[in-house]
Amino acid sequence: MCGIVGYTGLDQAKDILVDGLKRLEYRGYDSAGVALEATDGAGDPRIDVVRRVGKVAGLESELVGVDSAATCGIGHTRWATHGRPSVANAHPHVSCDGRIALVHNGIIENFAELREALVRRGHTFMSDTDTEVFAHLIEEAYDGRPADAATGEPARPGCHDLMGAVREACTHVVGAYGLAVVCADEPGVIAVARKDSPIIIGRGERGSYVASDVIAVIDATRDVVVLEDGQFARLTREGITYTDAEGNAIEPAVTHIDWDIDMAEKGGYPDFMLKEICEQPRVVRDTLVGRMTGGELDIDELGLTMEELNLIDRVYVIACGTSYHAGLIAKNLIEMWARIPCEVEAASEFRYRNPIITPSTLVVAVSQSGETADTLAAIRDARIKGAKVFGITNVVGSPVARESDGVIYTKANKEIAVASTKSFIGQVVSLTLLALLLAQVKGKLTTGQVRLLFSELGNTAEQIQWILDTQEEAIHEAALACKDAHSALFVGRGMGAAIANEGALKLKEISYLHAEAYAAGEMKHGPIALIDRDFPVIAIATKSPVYDKTVSNLKECEARGAKIIVVATEGDEDIHKIADHVIYIPPVRDAFSAITATVPLQLLAREVALMRGCDVDQPRNLAKSVTVE
Ligand code: G6P
Repeated sequence: MCGIVGYTGLDQAKDILVDGLKRLEYRGYDSAGVALEATDGAGDPRIDVVRRVGKVAGLESELVGVDSAATCGIGHTRWATHGRPSVANAHPHVSCDGRIALVHNGIIENFAELREALVRRGHTFMSDTDTEVFAHLIEEAYDGRPADAATGEPARPGCHDLMGAVREACTHVVGAYGLAVVCADEPGVIAVARKDSPIIIGRGERGSYVASDVIAVIDATRDVVVLEDGQFARLTREGITYTDAEGNAIEPAVTHIDWDIDMAEKGGYPDFMLKEICEQPRVVRDTLVGRMTGGELDIDELGLTMEELNLIDRVYVIACGTSYHAGLIAKNLIEMWARIPCEVEAASEFRYRNPIITPSTLVVAVSQSGETADTLAAIRDARIKGAKVFGITNVVGSPVARESDGVIYTKANKEIAVASTKSFIGQVVSLTLLALLLAQVKGKLTTGQVRLLFSELGNTAEQIQWILDTQEEAIHEAALACKDAHSALFVGRGMGAAIANEGALKLKEISYLHAEAYAAGEMKHGPIALIDRDFPVIAIATKSPVYDKTVSNLKECEARGAKIIVVATEGDEDIHKIADHVIYIPPVRDAFSAITATVPLQLLAREVALMRGCDVDQPRNLAKSVTVE
């Protein structure tokens, strides 16, 4: 949700900023901009700001004509919250005198009252954004503040120190911010602040870097500081100093990043989405590495003792988007194996309800990014109410990881395409491990049964590979049948119903084709009325205890003229009698079918989106990580 980047060092900043913004573009792509140090005709320092509506590529083209020798600057790629995408609302925002420029990720909740007071004291606003109040607040703290007749506040002198001014401005702001600020009067300095919005800082051989995500700085360094709430950083060409809210020097911990930049490149694939789908066999393997030692399931990052686990009598899975769908799969597994009641809830709902939580409640928070605002708020709420919280995330050191009692990392590595694919598979595999552990601790599965299931779980890696290697043509044909539809319905029963939700979401997200998921048995209570030849029904009808029931439901659709596409089990020839198109997956235990059956639906969504001329990596209006409510 907005990406910020900053560099001060020995090299020219412009290209470093654009390169960083391109890598951060998954966080938003409504508009982009940079602020670069410059000098005027008399040799005096000033700040030049260049902003464009649209993707970073547009900004990059505009910057080709900008001759900048600046070695210090900041940049931003935006996902609009306050104010529509426009040049005026694009970051960086500047103070009245243009000498201070800043980029911000987050939401300023009290911006209306701050803005009113600032206008009263003579400031002129150029945008509709909440962010701009920060520029004026910092300006007042830096240059001095005029008296405020309405509140009776007397004039105050300025501190003429950028870091101090940023710290002072933050005391007035309620909300979330990751902030990077430059000032024409302090060349080569970037002041950084953080509250509830990700900021990482890195020091490379040729300068100092700040960004929303390590991906923007990984070329320069693998050792980064994940700034914590209430911490500040002052970056210069020579080095970085860290302070707390009172200005005391601190020494934050350094995190080493062990994934490679190759993982953030397309590596010969036409788009990140396909690359990430094709990585899924590896994700399964990596997520399982080290999880079975000496014949025992090993999840030592759990943060809970076996005794505490044994006391768990209720599980809530809280998550958003695709991660929520991983939760739907987990509910089936936890209830089937561990016999513990499990509810799955959208974090945005959970946080505003009054769910029944006791000390024996386990809340499992699932989040690829580890920074989704609703999921974090739900975690905090659950902990206050006394629940144990377990996080499943893809990002090491992310807020979800830090604020949970224990964590499993999904080992998907960096996911760039906005629509989640490989991280979903990592989540489902991780949740499967958790379900097995709970079942074992509760004595519902023997160690031998757990070992057998674990080994079958590992087989899904090859099964996914088989789908990738053999089903391309079938998926292409099915996509042709969907591409001109006005709407599509995804149906299934049991696990199939949970998988249908993810299939429908993928199609909606990237092809802009309306899709709905429905439990197959519920079709006749409403959706069947929608059916015609332009309304494909996409069914998950793999061999499972509810296979025959699902087929009966499909016959009802067939009888009404539906175009039917089925994800079926290899060897099921009968399915051709009712299906227009069949995509096969290898035979798999129903409990693990989500790991394999989701893959053709991801590929189908991508094919349909490409046929409809859509950008599969950066769908309109979406952002990969949603750090606002
Ligand atoms: C956004 C993304 C989705 C993602 C959801 C939850 O909406 O576009 O792909 O599933 O956020 O994100 P999380 O990082 O918490 O899994």
